[in-house]
Amino acid sequence: MQTNKTPYQRQIFVCTNNANGEKASCGDHKGEEVFRKLREIAKERKLHPNIRVAQAKCLGQCATGVNIMVYPENIWHSGVRLEDVPQLAEKYIKALVFIGVLFLSVSPVYAQTFREDNDRGLAYLKQNNFTAAIDEFTKAIDAQHDNAEGYNNRALAYINLGRFAQAIADSTQAIAINPKSSVAYNNRGTAYVLQGKVTGAIADYTKAIEINPKNISAYANRGRLNMKQGNLTGSIADYNKAIEIRSDAGSLFRDRGLVYAQKGDLPDAIADFNQAVKMAPNDATAYSVRGAIYYEQKNFIQAISDFSEAIAIDPKDGEKYMSRALAYLRVNNANEAIADLTRVVAINPNDARAYFNRAVGFYQLKQFDKAWADVHMFQKLSPHQETGNFPNFIAALKNASGK
Ligand code: FES
Repeated sequence: MQTNKTPYQRQIFVCTNNANGEKASCGDHKGEEVFRKLREIAKERKLHPNIRVAQAKCLGQCATGVNIMVYPENIWHSGVRLEDVPQLAEKYIKALVFIGVLFLSVSPVYAQTFREDNDRGLAYLKQNNFTAAIDEFTKAIDAQHDNAEGYNNRALAYINLGRFAQAIADSTQAIAINPKSSVAYNNRGTAYVLQGKVTGAIADYTKAIEINPKNISAYANRGRLNMKQGNLTGSIADYNKAIEIRSDAGSLFRDRGLVYAQKGDLPDAIADFNQAVKMAPNDATAYSVRGAIYYEQKNFIQAISDFSEAIAIDPKDGEKYMSRALAYLRVNNANEAIADLTRVVAINPNDARAYFNRAVGFYQLKQFDKAWADVHMFQKLSPHQETGNFPNFIAALKNASGK
């Protein structure tokens, strides 16, 4: 046996099998005529046999005939009809060139079409219009099947739509085209994470980093995953690396700060959040978490200041008002606490904690009737009345109000 490179630049296999009505077959839809027409065009264009149109005797998908298989693109067309022949010829029976050992279908038209479709897809991606982005990337892929970029971009759009299996398929295809695509491994890792497949995700992020040791996104993603898995040392090492490559990204400092906070290393956490808000003054999370650390440290004034910054950035989040209200209660500023808790109730009228905390505020102001009204709301909404501070508070309220 001898093994050589294929002597053809492209092979188009057309199923011409005809089962003569005994079962469904490509012959039912003029498979042989489709073949002959394509072969004729290849000859007319003097591209035969470099582009070889060959007959196949059943490709195993008889119900969806006429079936056509194209190599090296590895494309499968089914349901082909005679009227599709011009379109197929336009796509596949065109001059091809070799550059060194690299096979390229360098039709400038295809390259330009790819670029235009791809750019439109990227614009839709930016606008968070993922469905439209997928359509454009699909067109780009149709124009250039051997370009990993189209698959990588479409994978991103699929991830954003929660279509993780398709994102994984596209990333895998991108890797098959370009095994050195760090982006493809990084995207696939993210799709795996979102499918709950941690081991595959860590392996892909690691591969992405191995291919491109400057892939910040892969370090950050692996750092986040390591944190989730409780590998806080590994997580910090990843963020260190990402920050070493890019030291002006507030989000990296914020995320490393979250790991330090989880580790109980509060001074390092605060230092990172300080950097984060310096670089990204609109980072509500950095303010919120730094506020929570100040609260833990009983630095309630700083905590109130940070929660206020976070609220200014994100005024619709009830949790931030709740946090600030607790800090107000700790400095006996019951009026402000009540105002914040009233906002929480307006955002979510079923938030039992808000009624309980507001009852504490009214208690501090000696407005016992209002305190009792909130206690009753809390009792109505909360299944956990016998736990936490509740029994002690009720005893104190009964005592103070004489009820
Ligand atoms: S007859 Fe065409 S695929 Fe089987």
